[in-house]
Amino acid sequence: MSNPNSRQLILGLLRQHGKISGKQLGDAAGISRSAVWKHIGRLKEQGYNIVSTPGGGYKLLSSPDLLLPSELLSELNTRVLGQEVFYYQEISSTQEKAVELAKQGYPEGTLIIAEKQISGKGRLGRNWESRPGSISFSLIFRPNMRPEDILHFPLATGIATARAIQNLTGSYPRLKWPNDILLSARKLGGILTELAAEPDKLHYLVIGIGININTPKSCFSEQLQSTATSLFTEHGQEFSRLGFLQVLLRELEAIHSQYQAYGFTRIREDWKALNTTLGRKVKILDSDKAIQGTAQDINPQGGLVISTASGENLTVTSGDVVDQF
Ligand code: BTN
Repeated sequence: MSNPNSRQLILGLLRQHGKISGKQLGDAAGISRSAVWKHIGRLKEQGYNIVSTPGGGYKLLSSPDLLLPSELLSELNTRVLGQEVFYYQEISSTQEKAVELAKQGYPEGTLIIAEKQISGKGRLGRNWESRPGSISFSLIFRPNMRPEDILHFPLATGIATARAIQNLTGSYPRLKWPNDILLSARKLGGILTELAAEPDKLHYLVIGIGININTPKSCFSEQLQSTATSLFTEHGQEFSRLGFLQVLLRELEAIHSQYQAYGFTRIREDWKALNTTLGRKVKILDSDKAIQGTAQDINPQGGLVISTASGENLTVTSGDVVDQF
């Protein structure tokens, strides 16, 4: 009985029909009524609110706000991203898993989602805590690009993420170089990029995204409350994590196609329009060195151009803007 395809079919029929009998479900899936009953039980365990109606029918009242592949794929409409999905209730890190799958040759668009990460990875070797109500996922890409242009990708991902948030909530997130997502000047989410390349060939690129969607303020430490936020904290209402992920995957696919067709020029302008770094005095930490100056521009590779107090122009390609004045 535990053929997940039958369960998907049953779910699809429950969505289509206000009410449907166990016999109709069984006939459509080619299984017995008792097998239908077991599938319904499993769906209820997953959080689907399905009620039995008089006369032996079933009715789907609501679906869980889990990032279940069955839910995600039901209204995704992407061509490449998310066509192969790995879903975990709990995992060490979706990023680690994505790198492992990329090495095994999984195709572009493979999506790894987890409701909870035990040791999520942040930029620059930091930890990333996936808090309740957040979204954590990683995607495998195999883009046609030069390894030295690698910064293009996280910058473009930042734009797609900002657009998805705007689409869902109406608010206008801003981007801090290279790709922190800010709302009300607090960090709403982050993007992590990892790649394997030879000098002139990129083998794969893994993008990991973590966004605080319905995370209550109380889930952030007192210290973090001044620097981190969630959509729930900013808007005072919950948003569908699933709906957000669907919109974000579409935005990511669109910007990725745009990049492959037309390159970075337009994306660079779009990033500048959303950024909060340029024109400000900044302090950047990269490994053990700190650089201070005024952020002037991003160069055609996506590096941050800084003019220092001594009048020198430097281009920074990694590190973290720790202060913007
Ligand atoms: C940052 O430091 O700002 C980047 C955070 C990236 C976190 C995401 S959550 C999904 C993916 N899996 C991880 O372990 N990290 C990334």
